[in-house]
Formats: sequence, structure tokens, C-alpha cells
Amino acid sequence: MSTPKRYTITAALPYTNGPIHIGHLAGVYVPADIYARYQKMRGEDVLFVCGSDEHGVPITLKAKKEGVSPQDVVDKYDGIIRKSFQDFGIEFDNYSRTSGKTHHETASAFFKKLYEEGKFIEEVTQQLYDEEAKQFLADRFVVGTCPKCGFEESYGDQCEKCGTSHNATDLINPKSAVTGNVPTLKETRHWFLPLDQYEPWLKEWILEEHKKDWKSNVYGQCKSWIDDGLRPRAVTRDLDWGIPVPVEGGDGKVLYVWFDAPIGYISASKEWAERENKDWEPYWKNDDTKLVHFIGKDNIVFHCIIFPSMLKAHGDYILPDNVPANEFLNLEGNKLSTSRNWAVWLHEYLEDFPGKEDVLRYVLTANAPETKDNDFTWKDFQQRNNSELVGIFGNFINRVAVLTHKYYDGEVPASAELREIDKKTIEELKAYPAVIASSIEKYRFREAQAEMMNLARLGNKYLADEEPWKTIKTDEERTKTVMYVALQIAAALATLSKPFLPFTAAKLSKMLNITSGKDDNNSEWSAIASAEALLEPGHKIGKTELLFSKVEDKEIQTQLDKLEASKKVNASAEEEVIPQKELIEFDDFTKLDLRVGTILEAKKMPKAKKLMVLTVDTGIDKRTIVSGIAEHFTAEEIVGKKVSVVANLKPIKLRGTKSEGMILMTENADGNLVFVNPDEEAVNSGKIIS
Ligand code: 2FM
Ligand code: ZN
Repeated sequence: MSTPKRYTITAALPYTNGPIHIGHLAGVYVPADIYARYQKMRGEDVLFVCGSDEHGVPITLKAKKEGVSPQDVVDKYDGIIRKSFQDFGIEFDNYSRTSGKTHHETASAFFKKLYEEGKFIEEVTQQLYDEEAKQFLADRFVVGTCPKCGFEESYGDQCEKCGTSHNATDLINPKSAVTGNVPTLKETRHWFLPLDQYEPWLKEWILEEHKKDWKSNVYGQCKSWIDDGLRPRAVTRDLDWGIPVPVEGGDGKVLYVWFDAPIGYISASKEWAERENKDWEPYWKNDDTKLVHFIGKDNIVFHCIIFPSMLKAHGDYILPDNVPANEFLNLEGNKLSTSRNWAVWLHEYLEDFPGKEDVLRYVLTANAPETKDNDFTWKDFQQRNNSELVGIFGNFINRVAVLTHKYYDGEVPASAELREIDKKTIEELKAYPAVIASSIEKYRFREAQAEMMNLARLGNKYLADEEPWKTIKTDEERTKTVMYVALQIAAALATLSKPFLPFTAAKLSKMLNITSGKDDNNSEWSAIASAEALLEPGHKIGKTELLFSKVEDKEIQTQLDKLEASKKVNASAEEEVIPQKELIEFDDFTKLDLRVGTILEAKKMPKAKKLMVLTVDTGIDKRTIVSGIAEHFTAEEIVGKKVSVVANLKPIKLRGTKSEGMILMTENADGNLVFVNPDEEAVNSGKIIS
């Protein structure tokens, strides 16, 4: 597009069914924040919005799992996510919530307009139904084989493996995620967005107009879906958690989460405008606004095909200029997973590494999965911190600050006549804003950050070549010039590092005692190139502080140990779960007489490897129970233990000893026998009841 007048930048609304992890950060929030900060530094009019995605099946499933209400779930995670973004320096202009009033009204009005203008198909169709749970199965309530790639764990609305979005009825061998049952089909009325009608327009808009400027991974996915042919998509659901369908016949139904969530960007903009006393409409309706959606690759279909079709159908809104989706980040060679706790959680990182926000930002950008999936390893994190941030950036700044204080009492010296090397270095410095900008404008953040680090490298090399610590003894004028040039580089870094390392940039600005100047275009970014001097002779710099500190081996080990612990938990959870036995009547259960008892004595049974003869006080009597636990416990460790006893089991003789009951046991994660222990407060003869 021609030069935009303003920017609307959105970052995918995270589901509030868990905290934020490094995959989310690397894929979406760090690049979005770099882009928004950079555009603001250029003096652009920018609105950067995000918010919690609080509807949809993931939230309902989490609530069911935790035995709480969906509202409890979203309140909890909205709090955690909101705070961690803030502490991490992701500077949204507004972070909203889709459960909020503005959003409910905006999404309802959007739906209503499309409904009234006849943009939907209304149809009664057969949908998957779980007879036992008595509910329709859409989205993540149902899993089955993806009709496109054969992945066996595909969700009802999207396959996580190939990214294809489909209708739940397209799944092969569907199974309810609630009960595991095979669903039946049941009639229900829904509203469909006829994507097929938008196909010719999408072909033109994406495949022709954005052939060159969209990333190849994004363009490629869109092309494949469009080439496969688009079909109508239901935009309503038979659920009780979400935004009620606001039209006749909509009772008991809600908007599909992927219908309401992207409208959340608009609601967040409205809220911001209200708070800041601004007009939100130009940010969404004027053609000279550049709309950019930052997302992960699993969101491509929704942001490139479905939401744009919704916007087109509505008619009042602009379309995204770009959707720079990233691929996925893995962790230590394995896919990040919330449910398997295979993640580095942002809120935990912030606790474990206080003051090291920028280190994570730096590593995630240096390793950003921009064109292919990438791997995060703790070793790489340590190495990048120690050799790049500490060794290059920190080292350069420290040398400049320390020497300025040492030689000139913290005052920027005046330079003598510049030599060729000085002129060349200043020239190179002045080229950096444009070089970094060019990469950011192309959404190549790794490259942009690497260039920013090259400026620190330039500074280091300049100092190493010109050796002011040597010339100070022989040539004072030369030393002043070298220090003057080095200080200009340090000042440039304080500005150019800001989008990538905002905490460091603030620290460095304080250290140099500067606020970035702006040029005639209100840009602090390009002012670096045009300013006569970034630090005038005579300017006093502040106290020297260390910008970065080393990450020690033991800190890395702690993180690796955490992951190892997750691995163990997952491994035991994955061991085959024995299927539940046939259902029994309540009366069958009440026939069992389960009691609390205490082991008074324990002896190994002679010539029987597995058996132990126990004397147990059941409260009713003191009786003998023969138990097959001899290989797992010594007599000493179990005497005095409270146990659960099946008291009314018919006595049997085991190796000649009469056994009158049974002790309840289970297995631990390593497959060893452990007692099903009553609480310490339980008393002998206490009945175990339901
Ligand atoms: O994938 C997700 O986490 C979704 N909650 C993203 C929604 S983005 C937007 F459209 F709201
Ligand atoms: Zn698939």
C-alpha cells in the first residue's frame, strides 16, 4: 500500500485456558511488540491491541477438568496473562477481554448486520451429538481423523497437524472428547458463512494482490485451501458458554468462538478510544490505515480467509495489509504443550530470572521461527546471554562508560579532527537505522536484531582497533576523538535497541543521561541518522551500571531439572490406563465393608517370596490378613501404618494361614506398590463410605 497514515496492529488473542509460554511469545507477541514499538518510534500513529480470548470449547473443557465454572477459568488466566505481558514489556495500547460488555455488543451487532443483510445461510443440518453427555459436539469437544492429512487427533473445527479448518461432520471416526463415545447425528439449526461465495474474491485478493508481499508460508497455506475449494462454515454453536446468538431462533446457541474472537480486535480498539478520548473508526475503516495481524501458523486460515470474508461481508471495514504468521517454536527438541507441561511459562520465567526480561526477548527473536519451526534450548539461552549480550553489547557499553568516567570524569570529550576510520565508523553508524528498518518493514525481526547487534560489534571493533586505553598515555587528542565516536555509537544503541530490548534501552539511556531526540518527522528512529551529534561534547553521562549479567550453569540446570520432572510425570500418565470395569449398582457397592485399620505386626511368610502375614487392628477385632506385599516392604516400615481394609471378604487359607480380609493397594508412577492410605485423622473401624 502507499504510505499509510496510521497503523492498527493486532496480536492474536490468547485463549484464557492456560498461561503464556515461550511459543506464544516467539510466534506472536515479541515480534508484534517490536513492530509496534518501532513504528511508534518512527512517529507513526499506532494502535496496538490484544486481549483475552475467553469463549470457546478450550475454556469449557478446562473448567470441566478443574471442576470450576468457565468464568472462574477465564478470570484466573486473564489475570496471569495480563500481568505477565505487562511485566515482560509487551506494550499494548489496550489489552481487552472478550467476556467484556463492549465486545459482546460489538460481536452481536456484527452478527446481526450480516444476518439482516442476508449474508448467512440458515440451515437445519445433522450435527454430531453425544447421547450420554447430552450435548452437541463441535470444535474441541470432538476428535477424529483429519480428512485432509490423516492425523488421528484432529479437532472438530481444525486439524492441529496440517492447519486445515473443517466441519466436525467431516472427521473420520469421530469420538466425543467428553465421554469417548462415538457420536450420533442430531438435527440442529445453524447459520453458515458461505465461504464458497467469497472464493473468487479471495483468489484475487490473496493469490494475486498479495502474492509478493505475504510470507511464503502464509501465502502457501492460503493457496492450498483456496485451491481445494471453500465451503460454507457454521458460525454458531449449540453451547452455553459464549456470546448468545442475537437473532430469532438463536436461543441456547452462541457465536462460534472464531466468529467472535477476531472481532475482539475491534472491541479492544473501541475501548481504547473511549478511554483515550479518541475516534476508533479511522483505525478500522480508513483505507490509509495499515492493518497487520500477528499470529501463529495455526491461526492462518482464520485471519486470512474467514475473518477477511466476515469483514468483506460486513462492508464497513478495511482488510489486513499483512498477516506475518510465524511457524512454531519447539522446546529442547519437543513440541511445546500446555497439557503436558512441556513449556517455559512466562510468569515462571519472570520469577526465576528477575531483571532478565530482555534476555528472553533477545533469545526468542534471535531464534524466531520466522520461516520454519525452531528449537529453544536452555544451553543456547545461556550461550546467547553470556557471549552476545554480556560479551558484545554489555562489554562495549561498559568499556565506553567506564573509560569516559575514568578519563573525563563522565563528560563527553570534544573530538579533534576525524580520521578516515572515524568518518567511516560514523557513516556506518548512520546507515544502521535504515538497515534495521528495512528488515523490520519486511517482518524479518531476526535479521533486524542481528543488525542492531552488529552496531555493538562495530563499537567493539572500533575500540579494539583504536585502543584508547593505550593512546591515553601518548595522544590525548586522539583518545578524545575515539571516545567521542564510541559514545555516539553507545547513544545510537540506546535508541536502536529499544524495540528489541526495551528494559536495556531504558537502562542505557539513564546511564548516558539522554532522552532520544526527534527529527522534523517526529521520528526518534531516523533522527539517529540525521543528528549532528547524539551526545554533545560537555554532556555529562550518568553512573555506570552493568547492562547484563552472566547466566550460571546451575540456573540452567534448574530449568532442565524442571523439564525432566515434566517428562517423568508425562511418562507415568502415558502408561496404559486400564479401562474402567463394567458399571455396578449402588447396592453392589454397599455390600462391601471397607474399614480403616492399623497394622500391628508384620512377618514374612516362610518360603513364600511375596507374602507377608499381618496382624491388623480393624477396630472390630484384631485379625490376620495375608498380603502379597513382601517384595515391596520390610516389616519394620509398615508396622503402625493406617490402611484401608476390605473387612467382609470371605476368609481363605493361603499356604495354610487363614486370611480374613484384604488391604487396599495401588501403584506409584514407577510401578511399585503403595498403600491407599486413610488420612492420619481416620480411626480404626471407621467405615470407608461414599
Ligand atoms: O489460537 C488461539 O490461541 C486463539 N485464541 C487466537 C485467537 S486470535 C483472534 F482472532 F482473536
Ligand atoms: Zn490435517
